[in-house]
Amino acid sequence: MITPSPTQRRRLERAARAAARHSYSPYSRFRVGSAVLTGSGRIFAGCNVENASYGLCNCAERTAIFSAVAAGERRIRAVVVYTPTPKPTLPCGACRQVINEFGPDAIVISICDSAHREETSLAGLLPHAFGPKDLH
Ligand code: THU
Repeated sequence: MITPSPTQRRRLERAARAAARHSYSPYSRFRVGSAVLTGSGRIFAGCNVENASYGLCNCAERTAIFSAVAAGERRIRAVVVYTPTPKPTLPCGACRQVINEFGPDAIVISICDSAHREETSLAGLLPHAFGPKDLH
């Protein structure tokens, strides 16, 4: 696994913070921004997008990953999640499963509005994952 450089980390964190400004979260009022680093070194950002039909809400992480895949990227090396909270937020279970599809070796960095941060791996967040390897 190639870990992101300090410059890439800075860019990812900046992109995740910027993306949270576009969060569409009138129901939860919980703003989330995410940025992912792809295998080719590109960065894609996303925010959570909610819906009046609550079950259709899409998390920031999945918005960012789906943007990357829609641009032709297939490998996710790092995921940054930003919330404007005192404590960092880790990806929900659904997002962990989606990260696993494209980045089983990804590192996951959660940042917030204080100095607290969490840095872990997808494997740590979703051990014994079901994934593409199980289907062939
Ligand atoms: N949410 C995310 O976007 N990412 C997370 O990691 C946790 C939850 C969103 C979904 C919903 O729009 C709001 O936060 C409250 O759950």
